[in-house]
Formats: sequence, C-alpha cells, structure tokens
Amino acid sequence: MKPVEIAEGIYWVGVIDWNIRDFHGYSTYQGSTYNAYLIMDDKITLIDTVKKPFADELLANIGEIVDPKKIDYVISNHTEMDHSGGLPRVMHKVGEDKPLYCSKMGQKNLSRHFAQAWNYRPVEDGGQLNLGKRTLTFMETRMLHWPDSMFTYVNGEGILFSSDGFGQHYAGLERFDDQVGEAIMPHAKKYFANILLLYAPLILKLVDKVTEMGLSIRMICPDHGIIWRTDPSKIIKAYVDWSEQKPRRKAVVVYDTMWHSTEAMAEAIANALGEEGVDARPLQLRTNHRSNVITEVLDAGAVVVGSPTLNNGLFPTVSDFLTYMKGLKPKNKIGAAFGSYGWSGEAVKLVTKELEEMGFSIIEPGVRVQYVPDDKALDACRELAKKIAAALPK
Ligand code: FEO
Repeated sequence: MKPVEIAEGIYWVGVIDWNIRDFHGYSTYQGSTYNAYLIMDDKITLIDTVKKPFADELLANIGEIVDPKKIDYVISNHTEMDHSGGLPRVMHKVGEDKPLYCSKMGQKNLSRHFAQAWNYRPVEDGGQLNLGKRTLTFMETRMLHWPDSMFTYVNGEGILFSSDGFGQHYAGLERFDDQVGEAIMPHAKKYFANILLLYAPLILKLVDKVTEMGLSIRMICPDHGIIWRTDPSKIIKAYVDWSEQKPRRKAVVVYDTMWHSTEAMAEAIANALGEEGVDARPLQLRTNHRSNVITEVLDAGAVVVGSPTLNNGLFPTVSDFLTYMKGLKPKNKIGAAFGSYGWSGEAVKLVTKELEEMGFSIIEPGVRVQYVPDDKALDACRELAKKIAAALPK
C-alpha cells in the first residue's frame, strides 16, 4: 500500500501483513500491519521499521516521498523484531552513521539483537529532539511491554507515536479509526488482553502521568493496525477500563473433553449460569484459540475450567491455557474447576491449585464425575454454577 499522509508532512509508510495468522502464538485471524512513520522536516525522521521480510517494501514506500538516503534521524521506539527486523536493511540504505534514537534499554536490546556499531543516541524520559519546525518529546514506557519501549510525542501537534500501545492486529486498507468504526474495538481488546494485560497497573500509572502532564493528544499512531484520530480518548478510556479489571456478571466456562463428559458438564454449568443472569459461554479449547479465550476472560468475573484427567494429569490443551493465562496475570477473578475422569481423577485438584496460584477466589468444591455424568452429577454442576453466580456482582 502507498504511503498515506496522516498529518501535514507526516506519513504512514508501513506495510500490511495480510496473511499472518499466528503471531508468536496469538491468532491473528485478520492479519496485521507493521506501522512506520516518516516526518518530513528540516531533519527528516523515520519512526520505527517493520518485520525483516518487509524491509524493502518499507524502503519503497519511503522512496515515494523522499530518497531514504536523505533521512537524517531514525527513532526506534521498541526493539521487538516486528519493528526492528528491518532496521539493518534500513540503516544500510539510510546510512550506518545516521543517529539512531532509542531508550537506554533500547540501545542495550538492539545491540543484543544486531551486532552493529550504529550511531546510538540513547534518550532520557522527557528528552527532546528538535527537527527544525517540530520538536519531539520521548516518553519512557518501560515494560509496556518490553524494557526498551518508549513513546514519541510531537509537541504542539498532539501526535503520539505509541509503539505497541493502543495497537490492534488488523490488516486492512483503512488507516484510521473512523474508516473502520466500532468493528476495530474487538481487535483492540484482543490485543490488550493478549499483549498488555499483565502490565495493567503500569498502564493506569502511565495514564495518570499523562493526565498530570496535561499532554494534549489529538492523534495516536500505534505500530499495529489503525490510527486513532477521531476520538483518541475513546481508546484511552477503554485501556483504563480493561486495566481496572472490574469484575462483571460474566463467566467463561473453558474446557476440553475426551468423550463429551466434561463437555456435558460445561454446558450444564453454562446453562445454569445463564439462568442466574450471568453472561456465560462454554468455550472448548480445541476449537477456540487461547488468544480468543483470554479476550473473553478479560472482562469476565469468573473463569470456570474443566479438564478430563488424562494419564493422571491435566488434558494438554487445558495445561496450555492455564500456563498462558497465568503469564497474563488476570486480576479480580472467581475460579472453579470441574471434570470427568476414569479411575484416578486428579485434574480438578490440579486446576484448582493452578487457579489458586493465580490469586483467583476459588468456589469449592469443584465437581468431579467418574466416566459419564448422570442427572445427579449434572445437578452438582448446576449447584456449582449457582454458587459462582451468587459470588459475582449483580
Ligand atoms: Fe509489535 Fe512488541 O512488538
């Protein structure tokens, strides 16, 4: 796609990865983009690059506006290779001696990714760079979501280059929020749930800091997906809401099953939750990708996990999901466990232990059923659902 002028003299020069469907274990069912931005000023400046295989496409996009050799400064807001993989090729074209601005951790991390003696210019939090007509301010956003992450802000114009923050894995010809409308929000939510959830407390602090600074934000330009230009406060408010993780009357019943017994239990629990006015959905782990399940977990008050016992342990997809969820550190959740077994039946105990370790409030006891659930067993599932519903906010 050709460059797009997003503000006077500032261009999107990124690339679209239409067919990526797995982004380090996150299912990107609608592809993604790697956004890079070119600021035409007395000092021509490139903000971020793209994934390595797309470096020549980025250079061709830049070439539509200016010869890449004329770029004066390169800024790397984030070291992860979807934004830095193209950096060696870009620096080779732009000039290996050109100043490369990044955070101090950025310098450390880029040096560990690429053995290149680039002309690093590490910047402080609040550091500024004058381009001629414009001045940029750098904001360290350590651990949002890497130690090197930072934002770059265009003073006076209210444009924030936010690296992964406020991004979405969404491939489309649209470049702005108003061109997609509400349909972009599920992508933004999924991105938050899978990439940023564990840093929610830092996000709340960052929003407070930006509010205290009185920073006016007219446009947010992330490194993935569309640019927020219509009402950037909408996505900021959504980030605050998602970060606060206030429990809602919603439950995710996530499970796997071998011979449909644990599935029958999941459906009994979900139906009974529904009868108690809980927004409940049973999600089977071999048909629902973990990254989609965790998106549902984000605003759920309860996570009810079902696993058959396989070889004295958890069913593998359930282990996978629990490991993934544990890493993302969701807060303020109620947890419960259920599952069918043949002869040993350890799974419910193992799930409960995992949920306890994640800080969930456990509804005890979980429901264990040998082989196939009968009416009495399904009643026990419904009782568990009632207890979960009673513990959720009204
Ligand atoms: Fe889009 Fe953290 O990389």
